[in-house]
Amino acid sequence: MRTREPAGFRVAYTRIQSTTMSHETLPTDEPAVVTCGLPYANGDLHIGHLRTYVGGDVYARALGQIGQETAFVSGSDMHGTPVAVNAEQEGVDPEEFALEWHQQYAETFPKFNVEFDNYGQTHDETNTELTREIVESLIEEGYVYEQEVMVAYDPIDDQYLPDRYVEGVCPYCGEHARGDECDEGCQRHLEPGEIDDPVSTISGNPAEYHSRQHNFFEVSELTEYLSGFLDRLEGSSNAQNQPREWIETGLQDWCITRDMDWGIDYPGDSSEDDDLVLYVWVDAPIEYVASTKQHSEQVGSDVFDWGQAWQDDGEIIHVIGRDIIQHHTIFWPAMLKVADYVEPRAVMASGFVTLGGKGFSTSRNRAVWADEYLDEGFHPDPLRYYLATNGGFQVDVDFSWDRFRERINNELVGIVGNFLYRSLLFAYRNFDGTPDTTVSEEVNSRIDEAVDEFTAGVNNYSVRDIGEASVSLAGFGNEYIQRNEPWNLVDSDPDAAAQVIRDCVQIAKALAVLFEPIAPAKAEQMWDQLAESGSVHELTVDDALVAPPGEFSEPEELFEKIPEERVEQLNDKLDARVADATDGGNGEPSDSEDESDTTPDPDEHPDANLESLADGRVGFDEFQKLDLRVGRIESAEGVDGADDLARLTVDIGVETRQIVAGIKQLHDLDEVQGQKVAVVANLEKAELFGVESNGMVLAAGEQADLLTTHDDAKPGEKIR
Ligand code: 2FM
Ligand code: ZN
Repeated sequence: MRTREPAGFRVAYTRIQSTTMSHETLPTDEPAVVTCGLPYANGDLHIGHLRTYVGGDVYARALGQIGQETAFVSGSDMHGTPVAVNAEQEGVDPEEFALEWHQQYAETFPKFNVEFDNYGQTHDETNTELTREIVESLIEEGYVYEQEVMVAYDPIDDQYLPDRYVEGVCPYCGEHARGDECDEGCQRHLEPGEIDDPVSTISGNPAEYHSRQHNFFEVSELTEYLSGFLDRLEGSSNAQNQPREWIETGLQDWCITRDMDWGIDYPGDSSEDDDLVLYVWVDAPIEYVASTKQHSEQVGSDVFDWGQAWQDDGEIIHVIGRDIIQHHTIFWPAMLKVADYVEPRAVMASGFVTLGGKGFSTSRNRAVWADEYLDEGFHPDPLRYYLATNGGFQVDVDFSWDRFRERINNELVGIVGNFLYRSLLFAYRNFDGTPDTTVSEEVNSRIDEAVDEFTAGVNNYSVRDIGEASVSLAGFGNEYIQRNEPWNLVDSDPDAAAQVIRDCVQIAKALAVLFEPIAPAKAEQMWDQLAESGSVHELTVDDALVAPPGEFSEPEELFEKIPEERVEQLNDKLDARVADATDGGNGEPSDSEDESDTTPDPDEHPDANLESLADGRVGFDEFQKLDLRVGRIESAEGVDGADDLARLTVDIGVETRQIVAGIKQLHDLDEVQGQKVAVVANLEKAELFGVESNGMVLAAGEQADLLTTHDDAKPGEKIR
């Protein structure tokens, strides 16, 4: 748990990502719980998975630093068909299978300095008990009813086929989909019986639909409440906007039971036999509460009171991937409301990570595995930095070893490391450490500014801004030392040289404090370098301006440059592995896709590989390959160093895209915000002035007149 003395200031920040401001500015006096979406305990973690966990960890650390009492929790998602199907394919008991993966995750996260206050699992007693209690209260409050539904059934194997036991065609968008989610298309949650052309994923047998009695949670009754909840909800704009559309098209009630053995038994009476277990999405989020409860039990409720946080006045902040927005903004708050728990304050939904422009693919071994990254000898903090600051949290980001090298070498080594090493080495050689004087007004106020940027980053739910506060402070440090040239003053005017270096040491200390959420282990090294005592992990932002102790020893360089040859080796290794995995199985994937490989892989989505259109007329089929969508510009800012380019974030319904457009000179960027535009959604990604552009905004003529719609078309609607 991150409990610090509250920081001595509260400033009202503009929330750029959220349109309403019904909550008090952070830090508040109430306990906060930051949660990360529970990974299914069913397979290896790759670095794409880590984005949400690193983001959650950065955010929780930063929240603690601004003085908010914070618990950071998560756990393994042990139930459901994602676990049961994989266990069955391996011929292992699902409990044993899930526990093994759980153990592995519990060991892997800390290796990336993702330090949960409690990392539990959904099959333990705390969660089982709490789930029963909460579901019983949904039943008692009259929100659960029985209804006959059609469920997929394999007549040859005599087996019901819930969720991932079945696949078929999404009834909404026609894409290939899983039984409970349209993972390759519109991302909708699918109810039992909805999927067309069902086929068993285990036997490959065509499935039949059989009528069964199941239990439904009456979410539709809560439409008005949920609509108000979304108005109050903070976090990333995708989490606020997407569910609004689902509400507008009418909420369906939610089937909360399944025909399975593996899971938590449905606690109510049911007219069917006793085989029903709860749908995994019922007990999974309850683990957020159970995990907090276990944390309280470990540290004592006088230190962190889970009951106060969840049942009284806590600040609940969920950090998730963008594929599970619906569960966290509709089903989960509906459950919390009926069971009389606190509603979430914010949902931060991260974009996906692609690998060299394509989706991670477990089946094709097209992934950089979490353990592999460490085995290659890399320190975890550069990856944390890359994942946390590569783009806005909700924007999809690409990982390539080349880009990783470029950012580490230019930013961590070139800006942060360079400033620290040159200034501390100079301090050590000329003053044995910190010169004995006070910090100048200029540097004092620049550090204050960095603290404000950091605090604004927390209030805007922007892990990138939290990280950038430090990098831009280090950039200032480099400029400051260069401008003041202490090497030219040290003999002629030693007091002036001492002043410059005293300022630089203070900047170094501020960096240790403010960079800790992004790079906890490196911050610890900076702290030790300054001969500071106590833990760098227990500080508040106020410590950035406290004087350092004095003498320190010769500094070492903090970050290491990655040579070009190293990247070539890593690329070759990855390419060879992908080729092996593909050829080895006659070009067929060797096993089912990982549940998290939701980032479209153009190999599997021919639409994403649209060939350039031939001259002359195109056929209708050709035209249809273009995925044109209505978008809404969420934000617009100039691209540094480019005269014409603007970086836009555009909400296209299912996700928010970063798109670079040549409109900087032709439009007032403040005015285009909120404007609806026509977007080519399946254009290949491009990089313009080092900024990734994921799509294209259509505009007419020399003045880039932005094409728009005139009625109430929603972001994401197809343009035909
Ligand atoms: O989609 C998933 O990977 C789920 N295991 C996430 C669960 S998050 C939650 F609500 F617990
Ligand atoms: Zn769909």
